[in-house]
Amino acid sequence: MKARILSTGSYVPEKVLTNFDLEKMVDTSDEWITERTGIKERRIASKDEATSDLCYKASLRAIKNANLTEKDIDLIIVATVTPDMLIPSCACVLQMKLGATNAVAFDINAACTGFIYALSVAEKFIKTGASKKALVVGAETLSRFTDWTDRSTCVLLADGAGAVILEPTKKDEGIQIIDIFSDGTMWDFIHMPAGGSKMPVTEDVINKRLNFIKMRGNETFKVAVKTLEEVVDATLKKGGITSSQLSLLVPHQANIRIIQAMAKRLELPMEKVMVNINRYGNTSAASIPIALDEAVEEGRIKKGDYVMLAAFGGGLTWGASLIKW
Ligand code: ACO
Repeated sequence: MKARILSTGSYVPEKVLTNFDLEKMVDTSDEWITERTGIKERRIASKDEATSDLCYKASLRAIKNANLTEKDIDLIIVATVTPDMLIPSCACVLQMKLGATNAVAFDINAACTGFIYALSVAEKFIKTGASKKALVVGAETLSRFTDWTDRSTCVLLADGAGAVILEPTKKDEGIQIIDIFSDGTMWDFIHMPAGGSKMPVTEDVINKRLNFIKMRGNETFKVAVKTLEEVVDATLKKGGITSSQLSLLVPHQANIRIIQAMAKRLELPMEKVMVNINRYGNTSAASIPIALDEAVEEGRIKKGDYVMLAAFGGGLTWGASLIKW
């Protein structure tokens, strides 16, 4: 028994924030952002949109594309580091909004690798027979946790949501390999110091701007490039295929230079790599399911194609999955 992706769906907020808008907010330039990251613009949630609202719109599309109803869903996993609130989980709020009364719902926090983590857990539920229709969502409103005076992070982070529905299959298709990894020794490479039990929010915390995401970008960059290349190589080997047999690589969209380095190492032409960082920036757990949904919508994935997902993020966490469509 394997798990296959039955459908995809995504949603990004309407509001577009361009590099030129950012030039007016911090000491940066369109040229620097484009050259160093590949980002031209990103989406920002409206003030009455929380993460669960983005989840809801992406999920409705995935459910519609699968010709299912909300009641068919028996498992909901939301990958996010920006839930509506600490309690309850974003997945439970989403369950309520969908009216998916037959589902069990919970969140996973693995930062930018969150979607692959959630997919890995859902795959186990499907393989053991515990779930027949699993909704897996990656969603973030990073804009709420971004320090808009810090040019090293505010040009990168953005909002959005993507969803897939998994179901069991006995055919030679679906998730062939899915491997996830973590190394907590580098936990402080990407973190938000305050707002949890370690450092509750106080006036002093707010004055020191500790309730926002901090990133050691350059160090993260170096580890990300090396780790992603290694995990994709290992996943291809485990799957018994070479990179030339891949139809599409759908990487986490953190930086165009990381994506290009991976493609070069894999000897994969950029036409076989899904890139939308120019339009959406880094949406953390949402980036892979949004990119996957766009690839499906654009007809870039056909039945029988090999598709590779790969991500790296805070934790540190990383992972990859080889899927036969
Ligand atoms: N505009 C202009 N200049 C800037 C900006 C900006 N927005 N941001 C930084 N700079 C400056 C720095 O101050 C520095 O100046 P200095 O040399 O005078 O000190 C210079 O540009 C170079 O800074 P670096 O940080 O070395 O720039 P780098 O080339 O590494 O790019 C970036 C920074 C884009 C953050 C890159 O390191 C990166 O993409 N890192 C990896 C991100 C990643 O993979 N994250 C994992 C997922 S994120 C998650 O989990 C939520």
